[in-house]
Amino acid sequence: MRIIRAKDYEEMSIKAATVISSQKTLFPDSVLGLATGSTMEGTYQILSEWYEQGWIDYSELKSVNLDEYVGLSADHSQSYHYYMKKHLFSKINIDEKNTNLPNGMASDPEAECRHYDEIIEGYGRIDLQLLGLGPNGHIGFNEPADEFPSLTHCVYLTEETIKANSRFFDDINEVPRNALTMGIKSIMQANKVLLCVNGAHKADALKSVLTGPITPQVPGSILQLHSDLIVVADEEALSKM
Ligand code: F6R
Repeated sequence: MRIIRAKDYEEMSIKAATVISSQKTLFPDSVLGLATGSTMEGTYQILSEWYEQGWIDYSELKSVNLDEYVGLSADHSQSYHYYMKKHLFSKINIDEKNTNLPNGMASDPEAECRHYDEIIEGYGRIDLQLLGLGPNGHIGFNEPADEFPSLTHCVYLTEETIKANSRFFDDINEVPRNALTMGIKSIMQANKVLLCVNGAHKADALKSVLTGPITPQVPGSILQLHSDLIVVADEEALSKM
């Protein structure tokens, strides 16, 4: 595990973007596992700027996102489809047919999960998986549970996650209660994992993830077993370490 310390959110975003663009430069046809949320917004902004400046070409890139809310269509302003389009895909030259997110509107969510695993398997690998961290230690939408779920599955979001994500909605009752998320096995099979964490409100979670027991009650703790984990975190997030 390598921990890259950043002064603040901006520096974390620059360092994360540097790791991603290095991957892209070394291996243009990389498969990137992408995450959403406020942690990643700065990183995507920087990647978009570097594209505009002509430094990165995304034409061969393939992407698989971690998760999507159940019941939100791609054009809903809080769906992760919408987020990705707004913060990254519309700003770079990635080919839309090479981008993938679970379909939260699928009439058969179980079938959609199997379909999503087939897409991941079809690529044969995820070269670099980006992750944010939930204040409860979740990665993707793999919430604290009695076991580590391996493949893409449908989850009930915890009250803590619903509350944390309600900041993006007008009313907490609008936050979907379910989501489709990539499983822990797919995340752990990525060749390289980049975990980005900022803010004092994540300090306890980050400490548990990196130094606590490996337990499905803290889903991110499994990352201690990954052979190529890079953590980019700001001073506040690292303040309890
Ligand atoms: C998003 C995702 C989540 C977020 C996490 C942190 O695709 O998978 O695990 O990374 O909830 O969210 P923010 O960055 O909004 O604090």
